[in-house]
Amino acid sequence: MADLSTGYMGLELKNPFIVGASSLTSDLNTLDRIESAGAAAVVIKSLFEEQVALEAHVLQEELTRYNDLHAEMVSVMPTLRHGGPEKHLYWVERAVRQMDIPVIASLNAVGIDTWVEYSKKLAGTGVDGIELNIYSLPLESDLHSETIEADHIDIVERVKEVVDIPVSVKLSPFYTNPVNFIRVLDATGIDGIVMFNRFMQPEIDLSDLGFMYVNDYSSPNDHRLALRFAGILSDLVQADICASGGIHSGEDAARMILAGASCIQTASALYKNGVDHIGKMEGELATFLDNKGFSNLSEAKGMLSMRRSKDPEAYSRAHYMRMLRIPVRTDL
Ligand SMILES: Cc1cc2nc3c(=O)[nH]c(=O)nc-3n(C[C@H](O)[C@H](O)[C@H](O)COP(=O)(O)O)c2cc1C
Repeated sequence: MADLSTGYMGLELKNPFIVGASSLTSDLNTLDRIESAGAAAVVIKSLFEEQVALEAHVLQEELTRYNDLHAEMVSVMPTLRHGGPEKHLYWVERAVRQMDIPVIASLNAVGIDTWVEYSKKLAGTGVDGIELNIYSLPLESDLHSETIEADHIDIVERVKEVVDIPVSVKLSPFYTNPVNFIRVLDATGIDGIVMFNRFMQPEIDLSDLGFMYVNDYSSPNDHRLALRFAGILSDLVQADICASGGIHSGEDAARMILAGASCIQTASALYKNGVDHIGKMEGELATFLDNKGFSNLSEAKGMLSMRRSKDPEAYSRAHYMRMLRIPVRTDL
């Protein structure tokens, strides 16, 4: 059987399958099952700025409550224990101790101070790497894209200054020119780039004219966005590319590797099929490599990237022009 091992931001992985940050990776029992199913690494569910803010709020409330009882009690309050980020950090530490495969923490902050402080704290749990989940949804109509991009680069540079474990960034596809932005990001010395996060979109409930919250899982064809950018960027950046979004089978994973990704992350496929599906994906990838005569993953990696492929136009607008030339069907 072909050797599936690969490297990702300095970590040795036994295969390219990483379970993406999600509620699947927020529970020790499921993590156990994910490891048994054959995953090479996991990204723990993100610690969100809202959790940090909630803790600050709870702490403030507690301080105020005790203040009212006895002013001097404030000095003894730092020993207070409460949920939120501290609980998350404790839990991540337990996951690290429990698992043999690499464990990557994930952080989604807003303020730069939170990014820096909690990256340090997450690194202190013993994780093998940190994924910065830069998930911003700017609503200010006068905020320019350069300002947003400069802020994102600042987050990465500041975090890299304070931690000495590998750092990756999980990106949104919604940059004006993702190719340019990712190259600028790469120049920071970032270790991994996860392309892309998937955004939950609002839905209107027509029955009560309100909103409803739906499980917005990806579908197999959604992998093509990551495929395009993995193919374009894999020859242009030093950082390892981890493809994410709509990867539901070993064949999808094979496509990402051929485009130049070092590994893949998956979440929706496991929600839909159960965590054991990771073993099936692994088997499918091995079968593909064997059938095509590859003895290891590196032989296939990047073979169909934009630079190395004989058909680089597939990644560009030419693909679109080709689609437009398909004869119009009148029988539909
Ligand atoms: C229920 C659920 C929870 C998620 N939670 C997180 C999270 O905490 N942090 C994060 O970076 N991504 C989160 N994601 C995004 C996934 O990690 C992944 O990037 C995205 O779903 C695209 O991959 P997929 O098509 O394989 O699902 C979540 C996704 C789902 C479906």
